[in-house]
Amino acid sequence: MFRLVVLALALSLSVTTDGTGSTPPPETGTEAPPATTVQKQAVPVPVQRAPGVGEPCGARNGPGSARCAPGLECVKSKKDKKGAGSRTGVCACKNDYEVCGSDGVSYGTACELKAASALAEAEGKTGIKVQHKGKCQKAPTIVTPPGEVWNVTGSQVFLSCEAKGIPTPVVTWNKISSDKKKMLLLPGDQDNLAIQTRGGPEKHEVTGWVLIFPLTTRDAGSYECHASNAKGEDSAVGTIHVVDSISDIPTKKVVQDDEL
Ligand SMILES: *[C@@H]1O[C@H](CO)[C@@H](O)[C@H](O)[C@H]1NC(C)=O
Repeated sequence: MFRLVVLALALSLSVTTDGTGSTPPPETGTEAPPATTVQKQAVPVPVQRAPGVGEPCGARNGPGSARCAPGLECVKSKKDKKGAGSRTGVCACKNDYEVCGSDGVSYGTACELKAASALAEAEGKTGIKVQHKGKCQKAPTIVTPPGEVWNVTGSQVFLSCEAKGIPTPVVTWNKISSDKKKMLLLPGDQDNLAIQTRGGPEKHEVTGWVLIFPLTTRDAGSYECHASNAKGEDSAVGTIHVVDSISDIPTKKVVQDDEL
């Protein structure tokens, strides 16, 4: 009889030590009061995904009464606000500025980025975060290189160069000397040469020109168009040929035929 009591005591003791040792502490909220469950069921919105961009919101009750997804706001047209009828709106992005994603891609809004991130995550890829406001920075690229021009002395010639990048690159010109080692930053001190730069034709694009008048034999040679911004640089070379007579100027067709 005494042995049995001791055994029972030992058993209960081992149970208590085992209980505190390996099982987690009892959760306080495991047994929720039935009232909470009832309240949850009373909410008219079915448990589902919050409405995204362009989806209805703002209704008193029913399917259009759900709150817009995070980062979105419910936009109601003025007509609907005044009218006594339906007060539903459409979910729209709170911030309509461009953002640069951690994937190096520019997005129209943070909401577009979020949608792309969700898609990426659904495909098992890593999500995309906002890196900074505005478009992603991009090193310059020369869109249209300067090419070549031919003309006689005394004529007016120009080379043009179109570059793009974010921020918009700065275009400079260098005359490459005949020994191909020295670069002279233009315009230098020549009074028959001018440099011009203008933004465009498109956003983040810039076009630069070297204008020469009157053309002299000294102006013949290679001209480097150089585009640079905080992200990097690019360059392309154009050539000015000074010919003896107009008849020596190759037409575009001839040049193309020679190249083919
Ligand atoms: C050569 O220069 C003349 C006069 O400046 C100009 O009218 C003509 O278009 C030029 N020719 C070429 C092929 O650039």
